[in-house]
Amino acid sequence: MSETNTTRLPRHVAIIMDGNGRWAKAHKLAVAQGHRQGTEALRAIIRESSDIGIEALTIYAFSTENWRRSRAEVSALMSLLLEYFTSEIDELDEKNVCIRILGDKDGLPAPQRDALIAAETRTARNTGLKLNIAINYGGRAEIVRAARMLAQKAVSGEITPEDIDENAFAAALYTHDLPDVDLLIRTSGEMRLSNFLLYQCAYAEMEFPTVLWPDFSLADYHAALEAFAARDRRFGGRKQ
Ligand code: FPP
Repeated sequence: MSETNTTRLPRHVAIIMDGNGRWAKAHKLAVAQGHRQGTEALRAIIRESSDIGIEALTIYAFSTENWRRSRAEVSALMSLLLEYFTSEIDELDEKNVCIRILGDKDGLPAPQRDALIAAETRTARNTGLKLNIAINYGGRAEIVRAARMLAQKAVSGEITPEDIDENAFAAALYTHDLPDVDLLIRTSGEMRLSNFLLYQCAYAEMEFPTVLWPDFSLADYHAALEAFAARDRRFGGRKQ
């Protein structure tokens, strides 16, 4: 581990793991191989996040828009997800990692859905790294879902419209008990949010390393953490 200043670690890191397809192309491999290599990079980043004491790590594994990719690619990603949750769950549980899935699990094939639910259930009481995996997730859909839940409560008389404030809204999101995102990292040089954690990224610092996700190393991760530590965060206020 490099000498990252742990006194200014972000509490919540979110990562858009972009560039698997370009990595595969550059290595003259099938896109599925890019995703497989991306899973290796992910494994190392999760382990490091747990070791250095990051409170929450949220990764974008599959968006609601990713269904538009070829059948072969979607199927490869679904197989990788299943493989990952089967092969990693023992180590994650041993490391006291608490897994949560953000997104619509009901829209997933049954084996994937069942494996994700099993991983959530098994690690629910763990008190270490909160690992949130966004699968079949869209930020707008999450916001609409929250609005609908609050509207239903208002209609049933459980709350009044005046009860709906920022805290109540945040409490209706998948991330209800997590801090806002402090640091968002998107690899491959793309500079977009792509419908990821739209509400939670309101004051996120952002880092856009140009490295493709499968090549994202611990040194790259520490560089992003160090860039975060050097940022001057004002949350709309002014420095005294
Ligand atoms: C974006 O790269 C990446 C994805 C759409 C999927 C990310 C998934 C993984 C890293 C592996 C599976 C996850 C888990 C939790 C096991 P891209 O394909 O859009 O890259 P490109 O822009 O270069 O084509």
